[in-house]
Amino acid sequence: MGVPALIVAAGSGQRLGAGGPKALVGLRGRPLYSWSVDAFRKADSIDGIFVAVPPGQADLFTEPDIVTVEGGETRSHSVANGLRAITAGSSPELVVVHDAARPLVTPSLIDAAVAGLEADAGLDALIAAAPVTDTVKRVGHEGIVAETLDRSALVSVQTPQVFRVEMLRKALASGDLASATDDAALVEAAGGSVGVIEAPSGNIKVTVPSDLELAAFLLEKNQ
Ligand code: C5P
Repeated sequence: MGVPALIVAAGSGQRLGAGGPKALVGLRGRPLYSWSVDAFRKADSIDGIFVAVPPGQADLFTEPDIVTVEGGETRSHSVANGLRAITAGSSPELVVVHDAARPLVTPSLIDAAVAGLEADAGLDALIAAAPVTDTVKRVGHEGIVAETLDRSALVSVQTPQVFRVEMLRKALASGDLASATDDAALVEAAGGSVGVIEAPSGNIKVTVPSDLELAAFLLEKNQ
């Protein structure tokens, strides 16, 4: 049985400044979120694509064969709404969560993340991540560097993220959804074990206008 996917697309996109939801911004002639939908359609491990959309705007999400779910106030609220919709109709063991803001996700990364979690009973989640290439410092009071972190132990967290449904449900029920930027962090806080799988360098997130230009360039190059 395939794994259901939840693409979260309910953000306002304020930092992109497009005057509307980021997920609907045009990228090479199509809405941003549709690139992720395409990748999930092509992934052999996936069965069923749910998309969390801005409240009242489901009509604008016209990709065929998707189930739209009303998003929430924060990203984790959108994930919680999506998970409720997914589990209302079935009882999957795993679920994949992905940001619509990462249009370069590949079917092979999705399939590898699902297979990786299926193969490791000791893990509650497996998340895409990239090695950190910059040196990272923690800045303390008055802008003074307090600490230089060991770069070799750091990764930058991305999506897709694959979860055991029961663990994610527990983490969302007990966690602080308002301040979470990452559902895996909620799973960690709930005592879960989270593994990482290295993402290809092109799996960028669209946040500001220049990211959109880079994403368009990379999509063209990949064709
Ligand atoms: O704002 P940011 O880029 O970190 O959001 C990551 C993803 O979470 C985006 O795809 C965005 O649409 C989604 N999101 C959501 N519901 C919210 C806020 C963000 O689905 N309330």
